[in-house]
Amino acid sequence: MDVGRRAVSRAEAATANRGWWDGEADDYQAEHGEFLRDDGFIWCPEGLDEADAHLLGEVAGRNVLEVGCGAGQCGRWLAAQGASVAGFDLSHRQLQHSRRIDLSTGGALPVVQADAEVLPFADGSFDLACSAFGALPFVADAGAVLSEVHRVLRPAGRFVFSVSHPIRWAFPDDPGPGGLTADRSYFDRTPYVEFSDDGVPSYVEHHRTMSDWVGLIVSSGLTLTGLVEPEWPEGHEQVWGGWSPLRGRLFPGTAIFQCRRP
Ligand SMILES: C[S@@+](CC[C@H](N)C(=O)[O-])C[C@H]1O[C@@H](n2cnc3c(N)ncnc32)[C@H](O)[C@@H]1O
Repeated sequence: MDVGRRAVSRAEAATANRGWWDGEADDYQAEHGEFLRDDGFIWCPEGLDEADAHLLGEVAGRNVLEVGCGAGQCGRWLAAQGASVAGFDLSHRQLQHSRRIDLSTGGALPVVQADAEVLPFADGSFDLACSAFGALPFVADAGAVLSEVHRVLRPAGRFVFSVSHPIRWAFPDDPGPGGLTADRSYFDRTPYVEFSDDGVPSYVEHHRTMSDWVGLIVSSGLTLTGLVEPEWPEGHEQVWGGWSPLRGRLFPGTAIFQCRRP
């Protein structure tokens, strides 16, 4: 597999990531499903749990949208707290895992296949939106996603989302000592791309600096109300890709943005 950095279009990113998540969903759920729990709301590899963090505030009775819901673990936790939840994801295979969990637990989480850049929901449909690493690190146009979330939220609605911490971009994605030395510019926004044998992008991830995220949030019309950089907890030894206790104790791996629609 070839790996590199190059600009990609919206369509290239969406096509690549739909294919990648469809192809990798089974392995992803097998590897991370236990950590995520079928009905748990885990914000990040640091293990921050919404049951403890309460970043969404009161959820009972609220209409909630989960952006890039994967197998719907977060949505299932929200529903158990009394929220009315809809989830969507680009990957059909990820949504089949949501259905698999429903069938084994007796639930029925409403999910739909959609691209976060063009939401199939009416204006002002939701009180809350959330995303735990769903869609936003992968899309070419994160501003379009934020504008769409703004559109489907009611006034005073809130959006809370987690993404890779921007500082991680400057370091190799290595959980060991190799991941402790910066080897590229934090300011280089050229997307990370994996290519299939015929040279077509098969996985794309985008980098935004901290100020890029703030600018995108503000431009979408949302108000930034908080920023959380979860610390690596004592006794947490689980590695998830480039997230490890070694690196997590030294610098942040996740940024969680809390926003509000005025
Ligand atoms: C790291 S998972 C996050 C899901 C869940 N919170 C979890 O931790 O498993 C990223 C999800 O984003 C989805 N995704 C990627 N690009 C997307 C897009 N443009 N629109 C909607 N979902 C997208 C992927 O299919 C995948 O299910």
